Amino acid sequence: MEKKVFIKTFGCQMNEYDSKRIYDSISKIGYRKSYDQNNVDCYILNTCHIRDKAKEKVFHEIGRVKKIYRGKNKPIMVLAGCVAQAENQEVLNREPYIDIVIGPQSYHKINDLLENHITKKKIEETDFDSVSKFKYYDGIENKNTSISAYLTIQEGCDKFCHFCVVPYTRGPEYSRPFDQIINEAEQLVKNGAKEITLLGQNVNAYYFKENSKVYRISDLINHLDKFSEIKRIRYTTSHPKDMTDDLIECYKNNKKLMPFVHLPIQSGSDRMLKLMNRKHKVEDYLDIYFKIKKFNPDVEFSSDFIVGYPGETQQDFVDTMALLEKIRFVNSFSFIFSPRPGTTAANLEMIDYEIAKKRLIIIQEKLFNNQIELNKSLENKKIKVLVENKLSDQNKLFGRNKYLSSVIFKGSENLIGDMIDVKITNSNQNTLFGEIESNMKAA
Ligand code: SAM
Ligand code: SF4
Ligand code: F3S
Repeated sequence: MEKKVFIKTFGCQMNEYDSKRIYDSISKIGYRKSYDQNNVDCYILNTCHIRDKAKEKVFHEIGRVKKIYRGKNKPIMVLAGCVAQAENQEVLNREPYIDIVIGPQSYHKINDLLENHITKKKIEETDFDSVSKFKYYDGIENKNTSISAYLTIQEGCDKFCHFCVVPYTRGPEYSRPFDQIINEAEQLVKNGAKEITLLGQNVNAYYFKENSKVYRISDLINHLDKFSEIKRIRYTTSHPKDMTDDLIECYKNNKKLMPFVHLPIQSGSDRMLKLMNRKHKVEDYLDIYFKIKKFNPDVEFSSDFIVGYPGETQQDFVDTMALLEKIRFVNSFSFIFSPRPGTTAANLEMIDYEIAKKRLIIIQEKLFNNQIELNKSLENKKIKVLVENKLSDQNKLFGRNKYLSSVIFKGSENLIGDMIDVKITNSNQNTLFGEIESNMKAA
């Protein structure tokens, strides 16, 4: 009998990719994706543990589900993702409504767990087994039909930045076999993908060796470049330490690699980078920036910043702001440090929260202004947009420009999947608005 499932996804693109693969997997045992969360047999929360707020969101969400199902048959409640991995048994004690706890490296077991689920018997699966997980994924077709598709090539992290939970929730670095990735890219293309974003917690640490040949992310990018159906290639998230010359050279040689580098730096102060255990200096970052800019001046950088990390002085913050004068970052993220249990920084003395908040406001004002200025500079210009979908309830299309900014414009559905010219008429910080001048398709 067909059963209905709803997956709510929090956190990063890796979770979004996994949620889609979970759908692919459990469709084999009769589960069908439901868009109505009020009436399902199985409710999966795919969670994120990166900051404290993210974890609290999960418990809030479970409270909401409980309310929805009061007086009705309770769905099998599955807690997946990074909170599941980090909290495992504890989460079952805190929230008895949860039936199954499954960490990100155990999704190859999800069908068995659901099929053998017996009411009242709680299950917890949190081994780090990336090899089995991806072997399993390789055996089931990726049914994703998005124009812009994610493809995980690498998982886990060996860097152990002192603030970060990822090495504890996703385990050690693992790179998928090159051929399996290409095989999955072929499936995505067959199902209509025109843009592929290669994913990994440290995506540019991708390293796969077979018969004494080493494959890096640059090999994947150059291989995907040959697919005539693929119009755009992206990758995220990278670490400056793994930004090797072969990848940097892709910005010279590869036409489909988008001129947009998301490269988190966290701070513009060498002292802070050392305290955070980031393993590089500001100068190394600037070297990468200028090398890439030399190959292709059109490239823009985006980054992640943490303010209020333990020990951050006013001078450290001034250094970060000085870096923002050297590089005009666009589309960037900034956060106040959130202490995470089990990480080195969790035991350090916090700085005054009010000071951290003020610093966040200052850095965000600068970053948001950069974004507004970039978007303004595109007004009255024609830009290339890959059309991804129609906006629900509106006669409008949604796409993205090369810098990943959202573009909204009127147009007919048959343009979905095309690369078209859109004239930008208006903009705000987050979105570009435009019109199609002649329905002319761009190359
Ligand atoms: N692997 C990427 C890198 O090396 O930069 C980042 C991955 S992490 C999922 C995304 C971002 O979350 C980080 O770049 C950092 O800015 C932020 N982040 C991680 N841990 C944090 C914490 N404890 N408090 C605040 N922000 C945090
Ligand atoms: Fe976290 Fe650092 Fe690893 Fe990025 S490199 S996932 S910030 S530990
Ligand atoms: Fe969050 Fe885990 Fe991604 S902690 S950011 S979902 S790797």
